[in-house]
Amino acid sequence: MFGLTACLIAFGGCDTPQKAIQAVQNAPKMLSEKEQKIEALLSKMTLDEKCGQLNFVVGPILTGPTLQNPPTSADLEGQIRAGQITGIFNTNGAKNIRHLQEVAVKSSRLGIPLLIGADIIHGYKTITPIPLGESASWDLAAIEKSAAVAAAECAATGINLTFAPMVDISRDARWGRVAEGAGEDPYLGSLIAAARVRGFQGKNLAAANTIATCIKHFAAYGAPEAGREYNTVDMSERRLRETYLPPYRAAVEAGAATFMSSFNELDGTPATANEFLLDKILRKEWGFKGLVMSDWASIEEMIGHGSVANRNEAGAAALKAGVDMDMMSYIYLKELPKMVAAGQIDLKFVDQAVRRTLALKYDLGLFTNPYQYGDEATEASVILSKENRATALDIAKKSIVLLQNPNNVLPLKKDTKTIGLIGALGEDKVEHNGTWSFFGEAKDVVSVAEGIREKVGKSTKILTSRGADLYNMDKSGFAEAVKVAEQSDVVVMAVGEAAVMSGEAASRSDIRLPAAQEDLIRAVMAVGKPVVVLTFHGRPLELSFLENQPASVLACWSLGTETGHAIADVVFGDYNPSGHLPMSFPRKVGQVPIYYSYKNTGRFYKGNYSEAPSERVYQSKYRDVKNTPLFPFGYGLSYTTFTYSDVKLDQSEMTNNQSITASITLTNTGKMDGEEVVQMYLKDDVGSVTRPVRELKGFQKVMLKAGESREITFKITASDLAFYRKDMSWGSEAGQFKVFIGGNSETMNHKKQ
Ligand code: NOJ
Repeated sequence: MFGLTACLIAFGGCDTPQKAIQAVQNAPKMLSEKEQKIEALLSKMTLDEKCGQLNFVVGPILTGPTLQNPPTSADLEGQIRAGQITGIFNTNGAKNIRHLQEVAVKSSRLGIPLLIGADIIHGYKTITPIPLGESASWDLAAIEKSAAVAAAECAATGINLTFAPMVDISRDARWGRVAEGAGEDPYLGSLIAAARVRGFQGKNLAAANTIATCIKHFAAYGAPEAGREYNTVDMSERRLRETYLPPYRAAVEAGAATFMSSFNELDGTPATANEFLLDKILRKEWGFKGLVMSDWASIEEMIGHGSVANRNEAGAAALKAGVDMDMMSYIYLKELPKMVAAGQIDLKFVDQAVRRTLALKYDLGLFTNPYQYGDEATEASVILSKENRATALDIAKKSIVLLQNPNNVLPLKKDTKTIGLIGALGEDKVEHNGTWSFFGEAKDVVSVAEGIREKVGKSTKILTSRGADLYNMDKSGFAEAVKVAEQSDVVVMAVGEAAVMSGEAASRSDIRLPAAQEDLIRAVMAVGKPVVVLTFHGRPLELSFLENQPASVLACWSLGTETGHAIADVVFGDYNPSGHLPMSFPRKVGQVPIYYSYKNTGRFYKGNYSEAPSERVYQSKYRDVKNTPLFPFGYGLSYTTFTYSDVKLDQSEMTNNQSITASITLTNTGKMDGEEVVQMYLKDDVGSVTRPVRELKGFQKVMLKAGESREITFKITASDLAFYRKDMSWGSEAGQFKVFIGGNSETMNHKKQ
């Protein structure tokens, strides 16, 4: 017998202090109200109902391989009534979800409310920039706010769990899912992971406007061989721990409610049955107490990996490793009961998974009020509200990165006589919501054309031409585009990838602008008018053809609902661009994976490429392209200019318990107020194992008025110098370090210590 009563009886029987102490020590652990609820429910559940609580199924929007017999809504309701479903994902609508909850609460035997999940990766109806774009803002408060808006809209429609944030570090732009994460760096990635968790979950998961997060994809999914989606991952434990794991851990520390195991294998074992990842690291080392779910059919797919022979083995391996919930394999529902009955798997594993599931439902407040998520009146007032759109606009502006502005063509004048808007994404509304935005509607998007029209004066003429498509090499629209350019004072080109070209299952082996768009830009540039190129994409693109060209370029990702307003604010200088790249842009796809924190080799090329290729033999480099990226991590220009003073240190040596303050004076030397992302990198010159050429250890986003100077300081402690040493212990080593402070990862502004 569990529960409070049993405890009280134990106290009641004691008549001397010693006996009382003894009784307390011997008494069953006092159960919290939550535990009592869970144990009470568990004790009433049949084995089939328990397995039903572990079965998470898709609703109307399929986000995985098409099912042979997709369940109809009538089937789903039947399954809810029969206690065969713990929750439904990728459905929406307050009325619909209220109905589903009512079926669960009123018509299933135990009345357990449903989890309602969804892939809310960057907004529900108010679509904010793709996460890689938001990460370019380096603005943690804005990122948190954006997630909070998404949570409030979800909660209003009835969704109580998002499959986000995706925190996979990714350094290979071929992989389409780079769009969903925070880019290449574990330090920045960790801070963003925590900010997103705080945004979605708020301070109280049970509140009616916050929802649970699901940290994905655990683990190392962002490093598939050859950038090919779902492919094998193999890496050293050192690299795993140092580079790939920190953001997941930061999410645990921020209180993330759930995790999702990834599709990939790691070191020969699929992540979905990987005890090293799920048990040793996640549960034991990090103390994660929440629920772990599989990815879409990733339990069954272990048969394909060749690590198990059949569904029974797959189910047993996943459950024992710590995957509590089965998304879309139907193995826990269908096979586990038989296996438990046959003694092939211990019931304690099932019970443990059910406890975690019920705990999540409890924490969401579902047992107190199953209908608190999904309210038609709130849905009508919250979704796409003025405030939400304002938040989306704010983060959209902050996500845009000025890559080059050679002739200071930007910002444009609002009274420009004739502006030519050329490209497939100028008047488009469908593509700008980007990947993973299936609830977002094109009608709510402000197009680039609309944004520009609203911004300019009445006398400005805007000529438009599509010029080229996103999918084919048809150049028949070039002539019209060239004519528009000829008639214009300045040309704005809106080009890029279609939304489906990044995200899940969207790896590309060629990461240039798709179809005939490069040629279109060349043809328009040849006209000789000032050109501004707006590139929209879910990944770093190969933009080498624009290097040294007289075109201004803004990297715009997929900006979502407020696209046109954000673009117009930046293009016409009402907002001075402040974004900095969260991922290196390669010169050539052949350079990937490319990232700023690489290791030196014994023969790393240190020249400036001025010699003939034959003079640079036997060095670590390419014959046909520089080693460096076209635009490095941390890079981004502004309409103003910033200068950095030399780095100063308050002392040149420290021991383990001390700190050093590093500082620079930043000056806005231009004519406009503007923001700079001041970045601090450390380099450990010599280690017991080799160390990266530098690592980001701090940054501050600073607003300075034109002409203003400010001292910016960073405190460096021993933990900033720590790494996995030769023996895999975590700590720092005595030695000499360099401190770099500058505006991108290639800054040479450093102080040697
Ligand atoms: C598979 C994806 O990998 C995952 O990120 C997503 O949450 C699920 N499908 C559900 O749509």
